[in-house]
Amino acid sequence: ANNWTDVSALDDVPDEDVMGVQTAGKDLALYSVDGQVYVTDNLCTHGNARLCDGFLDGFEIECPLHQGKFDIRNGHPMCEPVTEAVRTYPVKIEDGRVFVDLG
Ligand code: FES
Repeated sequence: ANNWTDVSALDDVPDEDVMGVQTAGKDLALYSVDGQVYVTDNLCTHGNARLCDGFLDGFEIECPLHQGKFDIRNGHPMCEPVTEAVRTYPVKIEDGRVFVDLG
């Protein structure tokens, strides 16, 4: 079942950058690349670090703790030491708001 949840104003998501949002018991990372919004879990799958504190380069987010990288489009681990994908979420934009399907 879908569980579309309003998590942010679209304007609040920084272009070509990442921000963290805590909502509905979730810690999420929101990204905007080329005008498209992507959402992943904020916690790195390798350790206790938040991806919103990392560095976004194109579609890759670099974890601030050990510099592991994930593709924000599908969560795939891109370089060591991360080996486990980070969860991604479906996103839709309506009336200037970002909705995430928390599932
Ligand atoms: Fe993210 Fe280690 S905690 S790479």
